[in-house]
Amino acid sequence: MPEYTPIPPASCVVVSGASRGLGLALATDALKRGARVAGFARTVTPELQALADAHPDDVHVAAVDANDSGAVAGFLRDAADRLGPLDALVNNAAVGQDSLHVHTSPERIGEIVQTNLTAPLLLTRAFLRRLTARGGRGRVVMVTSVCAQRGYAGLVAYSATKGGLDSAMRALAREMHGRVLVNSVAPGFFASEMSSVLGGEQLETITRRTPTGRLVEADDLTPIVGMLLFEDTNIHGQVLTVDGGSSI
Ligand SMILES: NC(=O)c1ccc[n+]([C@@H]2O[C@H](COP(=O)([O-])OP(=O)(O)OC[C@H]3O[C@@H](n4cnc5c(N)ncnc54)[C@H](OP(=O)(O)O)[C@@H]3O)[C@@H](O)[C@H]2O)c1
Repeated sequence: MPEYTPIPPASCVVVSGASRGLGLALATDALKRGARVAGFARTVTPELQALADAHPDDVHVAAVDANDSGAVAGFLRDAADRLGPLDALVNNAAVGQDSLHVHTSPERIGEIVQTNLTAPLLLTRAFLRRLTARGGRGRVVMVTSVCAQRGYAGLVAYSATKGGLDSAMRALAREMHGRVLVNSVAPGFFASEMSSVLGGEQLETITRRTPTGRLVEADDLTPIVGMLLFEDTNIHGQVLTVDGGSSI
């Protein structure tokens, strides 16, 4: 057996969908934990730009569509040129859904699958090719969802992408042998632009069905993603669900 050497904590973290919501919170937290951060989304919001302006040596941001693989490759190249070798990836960018399957157009289903499943697979591939080419070791975290584990009306295509990503995560964990720790974090519903389509009544129902009695917040998620990125946990190929017990 080869001798076990722990994977060092992440030093330079790529966060997709870093412009707002959970992605912005994860980028901010990684920076607080001493990492350099490369964040992108289609829009660089004032909040993301402010993070970059406050930490010019440690943060690289750009407006990139995750579905444009050429632009994504350029972003990874620029980020590594500015910040140094990239050794961690958080696949966070995604689009939501709020329509019954029979009322969702084929085009919209295609967009959801493209953004939430194909794009993170391609980003992960591009990231890992760079990492392995230089003999690096690192971490990958997929942000998935409780929707991959339980049925929720109005989220058929979305749930398919999150389940697909959890499955891909497990296979990738096998492929990477522990040279790259690969895991998913599956949040329950939390307040963000994505979940703003839910009405007060729906949120009340979800809260009532949540054993802890409160909805998830970004602050519940950042320590879990932080643990997977920065600690020597021996957690590999797992889905860590953070949902107040709503899916049990
Ligand atoms: N909110 C919830 O209740 C909930 C529950 C479970 C899981 N999740 C998951 O948690 C993650 C974060 O969600 P959130 O609630 O924070 O959502 P959000 O506020 O809507 O943020 C989504 C992020 O993804 C980016 N994005 C979307 N499409 C993109 C594209 N084509 N290229 C690049 N960036 C793109 C958005 O920026 P631009 O629009 O500017 O591109 C934004 O930065 C997602 O993976 C979501 O599926 C959310």
